[in-house]
Amino acid sequence: MATTTTAHTPDPLFDLRWNRALRDLRGPLARLCGQRHDLKTLLARLRDMAESHWRARPADLKALDLSRDLDPDWFQSQDMVAYVAYADRFAGTLPELPAHIPYLRDLGVTYLHLMPCLMPRPGQSDGGYAVMDYRRIDPKLGTMDDLESAARALRASGISLCLDLVLNHTAKEHAWAEAARAGDPFYQAFYRMFDDDRLPQEYERTLIDIFPDQAPGSFTWYPDLGKWVWTTFNEYQWDLNWENPEVFLAMLDTILHLANKGVEVFRLDAVAFMWKRLGTTCQNLPEVHDLLQAIVQATRAAAPGVIHKAEAIVGPRDLVPYLGQGRHEGRVSHLAYHNNLMVQFWSSLASRDTRLMTHTLRTHFPEGFRRASFATYLRCHDDIGWAITPEDAAHIPHMQAPLHRNFLADFYNGSFPGTFARGADFQTNPETGDRRTNGSLASLAGLEQALESGDPILLDHAIARILMGHALIASFGGLPLLYMGDELGLVNDHSYAADPDLAEDGRWMHRPMMDWSLVERLPRDPDSPAARIHRGVRAILAARKREGAFAAHVPTRILDTGTRALFAYLRADDHTPVTCVVNFTEDPQTLGPQTLGLKGPLHDLLSDQAMPEGPLHLPPYAALWLR
Ligand code: GLC
Repeated sequence: MATTTTAHTPDPLFDLRWNRALRDLRGPLARLCGQRHDLKTLLARLRDMAESHWRARPADLKALDLSRDLDPDWFQSQDMVAYVAYADRFAGTLPELPAHIPYLRDLGVTYLHLMPCLMPRPGQSDGGYAVMDYRRIDPKLGTMDDLESAARALRASGISLCLDLVLNHTAKEHAWAEAARAGDPFYQAFYRMFDDDRLPQEYERTLIDIFPDQAPGSFTWYPDLGKWVWTTFNEYQWDLNWENPEVFLAMLDTILHLANKGVEVFRLDAVAFMWKRLGTTCQNLPEVHDLLQAIVQATRAAAPGVIHKAEAIVGPRDLVPYLGQGRHEGRVSHLAYHNNLMVQFWSSLASRDTRLMTHTLRTHFPEGFRRASFATYLRCHDDIGWAITPEDAAHIPHMQAPLHRNFLADFYNGSFPGTFARGADFQTNPETGDRRTNGSLASLAGLEQALESGDPILLDHAIARILMGHALIASFGGLPLLYMGDELGLVNDHSYAADPDLAEDGRWMHRPMMDWSLVERLPRDPDSPAARIHRGVRAILAARKREGAFAAHVPTRILDTGTRALFAYLRADDHTPVTCVVNFTEDPQTLGPQTLGLKGPLHDLLSDQAMPEGPLHLPPYAALWLR
């Protein structure tokens, strides 16, 4: 009689994958916990877990794995375009999502980041970034089966699903935290807890407040527990203790579970904060990169088609290692937010001066990365932090970093004389005076003001600014992220103030509801601002997709234009390089093509027009993609 032992039949493919992953796993895991814990046992447990997820991985996802083994650069293709949306604000619920796939396809989208979908704590939840159950979907959106179906429908249309994975903390209502609170020492070791405030006070000396306004300090005292708990963000978000390998195993189990539901990209939230050391800001510590490598490589063993995007909104020097530097090269996150490009875009727009942008982007960033690239963006669901350092500012005559940051905050909150922006301050730090900024792309770029004034020139300028920004992120190098509504010019939405769960967090101002009635009106109202922006964005993305030089692996070289108003960069493809030039002012500009090393007849790939001979003429806020 035959017995079935499928569960234990060796799978040579998994063995190959595991042995391959092991090469890049051993080092970081040994460094993280080798001295304190038994590495052999940890690796054995990790292997068992990875293998059981691999066995459970659906056949269609294994087919996807294989296709990505053969094409590991898939996410760097110029065909890739990402869209970022709240599932409820975009579609209502997960079962309603597939009906909107044609809209995404029409824009050119191949990657959809659905903002936090996992079960949040009730009431305030930091926009869903306080998760109480990583295995359940927020019931207002649907169920895990609905997520799986939505992922399948997206995949069938060539769209990869990206989901948030909050790694730094859980909600204090998560089962681990509840058990910790009930006194279970195993789960208390999942968090960072202190019996008295001696160490918390020592740490506080060098920590930076993330929400100085709404949640000052990084520790919270719980009388029932009799302990201080590390709470970097809000009181209800408890920082996990990643020095405990049980946390690593538990999170990896979660990742692989969700990967088997069809999640293709994990957005690793707030990774900069995952490791802590006394006397430091407890951000961007070297161990974070070991952790990321371990997460990425272990995922690779059991769900090889999956990639990771690091969310580290940090200064330029700290940002680069998230895409792999030194021993981590080609081994950590595949994507990371280009926070600096975003800040420099807004800075150059406000000052009509691209010198700081040129200096910073050229000085701190390599022309490319091995098997990794930036996600380029103009706006997201968070505020803008004016990450401009004194060292960079010192390169620009008469510029001082604190003054420039102050100018940007004033310009974008709408108080600076002559500004075009409508935004608001966020989290003013009483100690440093630093302010961050909220506001939608359209409102910050002048559309709200232009619509109110009824001035057609202001309107043209606002639309041109928005489209210039889209052209920048589509061509600069990396995966462009479109934030929901930015393709239509949706302005600030103040209705959040009436919802007690949202009112305290001004970031909801730029998290509007999708306006489907506006989408329906686009064809009937082709001259409306929304139709002009939507048409422009579609054309930009279509032009991007036609050019191999815009693939993310092609080096980006910052050029000198010799003109403050103009920013330029070369996409240095071996055969068919493209030179991009952007006018950051409302004044027309001219530039000799030889300044950019260009000669002979030129073609603008963006407008698909031949350029007249002689100097280049750039209308207000124009972008040219020249070959
Ligand atoms: C990330 C999210 C932000 C959230 C924070 C804490 O930065 O983008 O919205 O507040 O993490 O989870």
